Amino acid sequence: MKQNILVLGGNGKTGRRILQRLNKLGHHVRVGSRRETPAFDWHNPAAWPEVFDGMEKVYITYQPDLAVPGAKEAIAALTKVAQEKGIQKLVLLSGKGEVEAERCEQIVLDSGIDTTIIRASWFNQNFSESFFLEPIQQGVVALPKAHLKAPYVDANDLADAAVEVLLNEGHEGKIYELTGPRLLNFKEVIAEVAKASGRDLEFIPISLEAYVEGMKQQGIPGDVVWLMEYLFTEVLDNEDNQVVTNDIERLLGRKPTDFSEFAAKTAQTGIWNSAVPI
Ligand SMILES: NC(=O)c1ccc[n+]([C@@H]2O[C@H](COP(=O)([O-])OP(=O)(O)OC[C@H]3O[C@@H](n4cnc5c(N)ncnc54)[C@H](OP(=O)(O)O)[C@@H]3O)[C@@H](O)[C@H]2O)c1
Repeated sequence: MKQNILVLGGNGKTGRRILQRLNKLGHHVRVGSRRETPAFDWHNPAAWPEVFDGMEKVYITYQPDLAVPGAKEAIAALTKVAQEKGIQKLVLLSGKGEVEAERCEQIVLDSGIDTTIIRASWFNQNFSESFFLEPIQQGVVALPKAHLKAPYVDANDLADAAVEVLLNEGHEGKIYELTGPRLLNFKEVIAEVAKASGRDLEFIPISLEAYVEGMKQQGIPGDVVWLMEYLFTEVLDNEDNQVVTNDIERLLGRKPTDFSEFAAKTAQTGIWNSAVPI
């Protein structure tokens, strides 16, 4: 049966891929975006009821991160709208190893609506569609916490997992911890990107203080600097996150995508070979 599904962050890294999959299956999908009509903006709760009108299920990605001040209140308000609108299923994308995010998860789990949490580790696509892309294009990547390993997960696997839990029964009240199949540190990641793209990339390990100072000098807003520092300390430098899980295989019946496979496919798009002005 075709379902009415709202995908918040529908132009983002996971949302866009979920939309493609649901559209292909013929479901009625609404994109939650500031660019749509009705528009969805986390800063404009008054407009949320209209965006939820006629929807049965909602995929939630919060911006910029469930750990930031104000996220808990926003998630509580959104959950209330979902209750009022009779939403039958919520799927929340969360971050692995973030205490603040877990508080948001609990609000959604306690809502009385069937809820599934997908808790993800850092995405592969951060190196192709997000903050780590530009340094790669410039040829020099300087990052802190260089020795720490993370089980990078692919946004395509997250989208497959989200579609599975959105459409099928048996996932209610569950929390899935989604990781890739292998732990990699930044030096190893950049070596994978260099090999796949044929680029000569230089990796420079730096201190967190130097990284934060660099962001400030580039005029990056204070709340973004705060979030990046938080992610490097609380999330990356957290032993609980340096673990590979088998939840993707449990959910999808197949192995998660390895970083080298992601790198090979992404290299073919040419994105890592596009020069950006320094
Ligand atoms: N990236 C990771 O490694 C990672 C890992 C674990 C968990 N997560 C979680 O995943 C979520 C998404 O993070 P992401 O960085 O990967 O972003 P993303 O899904 O790529 O989302 C970017 C989208 O957010 C939308 N957006 C920005 N500000 C908004 C606002 N005020 N109201 C409504 N929409 C807004 C924009 O859509 P429009 O311009 O269309 O409005 C943009 O397309 C976050 O909650 C994050 O904590 C991320």
